[in-house]
Amino acid sequence: MAVDLQHRIRWVALHGVIRALSRVGARRNVDPQARLMSDPVVRADPGAFADEIRDRGPVIRCRAVLMTVDHQVASEVLRSEDFRVSSLGAGLPAPLRWVNRKTHPGLLHPIEPPSLLSIEPPDHTRLRKLVSSVFTSRAVAALRDGVQQTADQLLDELDGESGTVDAVSRYCSQLPVAVISDILGVPERDRQQILRFGELAAPSLDIGLSWPQYLQVHHGIAGFNSWLANHLDRLARDPGDDLMSQLIMASRDAAEGARLSQRELQATAGLVLAAGFETTVNLLGNGIRMLLDHPEHLQTLAANPDLWPNAVEEILRLESPVQLSARIAAKDVEVAGTGIKRGEIVVIFLAGANRDPKVFDDPHRFDIERANAGKHLSFSAGRHFCLGAALARAEGEVGLRTFFERYPGARLAGAGSRRDTRVLRGWSTLPVTLGKAPAALGS
Ligand code: HEM
Repeated sequence: MAVDLQHRIRWVALHGVIRALSRVGARRNVDPQARLMSDPVVRADPGAFADEIRDRGPVIRCRAVLMTVDHQVASEVLRSEDFRVSSLGAGLPAPLRWVNRKTHPGLLHPIEPPSLLSIEPPDHTRLRKLVSSVFTSRAVAALRDGVQQTADQLLDELDGESGTVDAVSRYCSQLPVAVISDILGVPERDRQQILRFGELAAPSLDIGLSWPQYLQVHHGIAGFNSWLANHLDRLARDPGDDLMSQLIMASRDAAEGARLSQRELQATAGLVLAAGFETTVNLLGNGIRMLLDHPEHLQTLAANPDLWPNAVEEILRLESPVQLSARIAAKDVEVAGTGIKRGEIVVIFLAGANRDPKVFDDPHRFDIERANAGKHLSFSAGRHFCLGAALARAEGEVGLRTFFERYPGARLAGAGSRRDTRVLRGWSTLPVTLGKAPAALGS
């Protein structure tokens, strides 16, 4: 089959049909899942939408899936042995799933096996154990100085900028990619290129993509796949002291049965790398925007810097960089009084659970001193709990504190624009004026 035709058919099966149905559902204002995918009002204010559907109960039946914004139910499902992770196209009717298989381009995808995000024990345990063995909390704690150095360097480059600067492209996206690249041995010359692949591929977690978005994602994933294969070859021949080289070695040296296949190794390395920058960019962008909108919090943080870790938790809670996850029932099961049949999908609206008034008082209020801010589900829960949470927290804390300590006079210089993604939530541009750095204030 001609490659172009194969992609057209694949797009119709994976995205086109759902896209058409969700637009109708969203226009009629009836189906919560359709509205989440297609309604611009919902995308502008997911918190208000969560309230709207919260009134309909802890588990809501949509046309094709079930959905929850209930913190207790979300935690329970994420931790349950009765549910498994979902993967791209899992919710499609059988004939479309068949088309999906037949037209598969063979590339690794973040939400298809053998990605950690789409596999379950025993394979998940084997892969995750190996990554955890190199990605220890001690290794991450040791990286904190590196995060600080990188943040300082990036801000040094901004010194002297008197006009408007885009905080996302100059800082929020550069910090995570530099940090994770240092960790994973990605040479400096390749970093802007993988950032570009990441930007193209960011909507890969979404369903109902338009044809141009589908093609864009495909090019991003294809470029990233071939770059990664070369990178891993290079490190296997000439290992460094980075964690990716350690992962390759750990896999080679692992006992029979614990080893990773080449495809598993590539999927795992690719996920850690991409997850390392695709999400944290949103934490930093969301944080800068929220704090610029609330100068009173910046004053409190300047007077009491010990509050930064809690402020980061509150930013993660209120503007969750990953808004959604999903699980499939492995058997017939009842959750909060709702019967769920084997094979049915539950969409877990993490950002909605983070605003559950049963857990968080006055949940829409941005309160950097909120005592239980860290109870959010932004890093998920259970066996798929984010492997990079400690690193992301360190980057959020160091990255935001350093930015505002260097530029206490930073101001928004325009509305900015949001990224065109549904699962991921963040800013694609944030125009700011930096004001003078403290060192330059007296000059
Ligand atoms: C603010 C930043 C981040 C957020 C909000 C975030 C969020 C998440 C979420 C929600 C999941 C689980 C999805 C699910 O349960 O379906 C996850 C998994 C994962 N994250 Fe993160 N993440 C962030 C940063 C990072 C970083 C910096 C890394 C790597 C260094 C990373 C690596 C991973 C990996 C490898 C998994 C898969 C774990 C598994 O399935 O066992 N993440 N992340």
